[in-house]
Amino acid sequence: MDLPTKVIVITGGTSGIGLSLLERLLLETKSKFVLRICILCRNMEKGRFVRGTLSQSHRSAEIELVKMDTADVKSVLQAAKVVLDLYERIDYLYLNAGILPIKGLDLTALISSDIMTRLRTGEHILKQENSLNKYGVPNVFATNVLGHFMLFEELQPVLTSGEEDVRSHVIWTTSNNAVERSFSMDDITCAHGTMPYGSSKYVINALSVHINNTKNAKGCYSSLAEPGLCVTGMNGNFLPGWLWSLVIFLFTLLRIIMNHMTLSAYNGSESLVWLFDQNPRKLNKRSQYESAVNIYNRAYVRKCVLGIKPSEAELVYDKMVEISGNIREQIHET
Ligand SMILES: NC(=O)c1ccc[n+]([C@@H]2O[C@H](COP(=O)([O-])OP(=O)(O)OC[C@H]3O[C@@H](n4cnc5c(N)ncnc54)[C@H](OP(=O)(O)O)[C@@H]3O)[C@@H](O)[C@H]2O)c1
Repeated sequence: MDLPTKVIVITGGTSGIGLSLLERLLLETKSKFVLRICILCRNMEKGRFVRGTLSQSHRSAEIELVKMDTADVKSVLQAAKVVLDLYERIDYLYLNAGILPIKGLDLTALISSDIMTRLRTGEHILKQENSLNKYGVPNVFATNVLGHFMLFEELQPVLTSGEEDVRSHVIWTTSNNAVERSFSMDDITCAHGTMPYGSSKYVINALSVHINNTKNAKGCYSSLAEPGLCVTGMNGNFLPGWLWSLVIFLFTLLRIIMNHMTLSAYNGSESLVWLFDQNPRKLNKRSQYESAVNIYNRAYVRKCVLGIKPSEAELVYDKMVEISGNIREQIHET
């Protein structure tokens, strides 16, 4: 009997959590679905290597590569055209690519009565940098939010239909760093703030809430997956290897009280894998689903309801439309 096909489009599928997600989906859904996967990646050489490795162990899967740099709007618009030509519908859009440019750590921030919150969010501990890209947009916002937002907008014809039945499930990778304090409505690109990463993820959370408020009636559902704290390419390079081993040892002990210490990309991908299996109509529209682990290193998913109000989410969405409109004009003029 032929298995049904599911189309998955993903950003950030070439390493870390995104790569682990693909490996797990190919393995864990092989008796249920044939997967058609489209990896949108900036580095085609790395993409070809990943495709080769995945295809070798999962011969029935069809894996396409499309070049896309989420930080470069032109490249996003070009990639969206290719995706629209390739697929008549998209079942899952994983918006997972992201950067967290760390310029240092402030370990004195750990000396605080708020230590548990800070360990959960990285607030005050991670010192971040944020340069401008060629369109004058702060890089963290451009990479984590703007590129994804414009891709989502461009893919509307294959993500939505005329009905409420689930047509597509958009899954954003968010972060516990997305605390309200990192975000300002007057500066949603975080050109002036000190927590650009948290701010970018806060915007993502607001967008997901607004998409559910406005697009569910057209069959497009949005969810937020939070991977916990895991060591990947994003954060693995700012400490020497020996220090990471020590930190990982301490974090493993901390699991007794802090279940978000997922530590591996495999564990971190738990919520992204779990969401693949859920009917998005039954999920809470204002929650994030978090990867967590118990003391035996067994991953599970927990729900955390966000405090974002519909009016705030709408305002963020409107600002994104305005920013993306300005960038489109800029591109047109050049
Ligand atoms: N690690 C954690 O503890 C943690 C916690 C919370 C949330 N997250 C989120 O999880 C997601 C995945 O990160 P990760 O931890 O798996 O880190 P990672 O190993 O560094 O993976 C990041 C992925 O994003 C891609 N990417 C980065 N910038 C891009 C750009 N401009 N255009 C296209 N692709 C780009 C990378 O592509 P290349 O392979 O070309 O570099 C890579 O595939 C991110 O959104 C991150 O914010 C991670």
